[in-house]
Amino acid sequence: MTFDEMRQSCAGFTAQAVSRLITKLPIALQKAENLDFIPYTVKYGKWVPGPFDGICWWTNGFWPAYMWAGWRLTGDERYKREAERAEACLDEAFSEFDHLHHDVGFMWLISSGASFRMTGSDLSRKRTLAAANLLAGRFNPAGFIRAWNEDRTGWAIIDCMMNLNLLYWASEYTGDPRFRKIAMTHADTAMRHFVREDGSCNHIVVFDPETLKVLDTPAGQGYAPGSAWSRGQAWAVYGFTLSYLHTDNEAYLAVAKKTASYFIDQVKEDLLPKCDFRQPAEDELRDACAGAVAASGLLELARCTGEKEWLDAGVNLLRALDERTADWTDASPAILTQCTGAYHGNDHNIAMIYADFFFAEALLKLNGDSFLFW
Ligand code: GLY
Repeated sequence: MTFDEMRQSCAGFTAQAVSRLITKLPIALQKAENLDFIPYTVKYGKWVPGPFDGICWWTNGFWPAYMWAGWRLTGDERYKREAERAEACLDEAFSEFDHLHHDVGFMWLISSGASFRMTGSDLSRKRTLAAANLLAGRFNPAGFIRAWNEDRTGWAIIDCMMNLNLLYWASEYTGDPRFRKIAMTHADTAMRHFVREDGSCNHIVVFDPETLKVLDTPAGQGYAPGSAWSRGQAWAVYGFTLSYLHTDNEAYLAVAKKTASYFIDQVKEDLLPKCDFRQPAEDELRDACAGAVAASGLLELARCTGEKEWLDAGVNLLRALDERTADWTDASPAILTQCTGAYHGNDHNIAMIYADFFFAEALLKLNGDSFLFW
């Protein structure tokens, strides 16, 4: 079945949600007027920046990406101008350098990378290639891409599956296979050491940086070692799907399906994901963002397999987000509420710009837009 055939089954939901999105986007934009930072979350009805790392905050590519989504949906040039303004702000991050880490994929592939692919901007092309080279520079030939800085030489995290797309793009664009080979080496390691037998995932794996021996699997943003942080699970679903899309490697597709099946099984009784699928039963902490990332990933899995069950699962998540967490009023510039930064952190029940991006991205897919930000 083609994706276009599949998406007809939820045309009513799509039309309604897209029309609400078109009403909400100008509120997001208007509340960003004259800001000297890139929006991350909302306090008292106003955008606020990321909690640390300044311009290097890892989510700073999502605001321009969200604005590009607005432009694609409406053709309104104000979204394009704001996306380009935010992309230019990110240049300062290159010179900050010390605070950049593997999330240069999140920062530049969907901002300058999307801009280059849509407008052909030469400056955007150069920014995206510079970011790809930074990410490639974090590769440890033992077999993984190093996630963070300071003394964490052997740390890799599941989120990196989404950053790999910057490397796939760089090889596709330049014809130089180095970037793709690095990405595939990391994806192979992630398949072996992050994904467990039951389809759940570690957030963090600490490797011996000389030998790739696994030293530790800390809880990271999840509840405890051995638990199942729902957004990490969503990164795996979408990330392995995209690794399959960029490489045709069937092993990645098999892992995408395995991690997707685990996610779907965990939300079968309640479609709003818990922050960690193994948090204590009495604990109600949720992460709407995990639902949005997984939904967009599941739609992509449906598109590349032709299997409608994945689309149905993605749409179920989107309906739950819409009905139970979306704020379509003008009281807040953000859409999704009930997002969580980390189980043991302070950012609980907040809005997050990347939740809104993935929610909008999924709606654009259902609306028939075939542009892939990744
Ligand atoms: N570390 C990326 C995330 O919070 O999902």
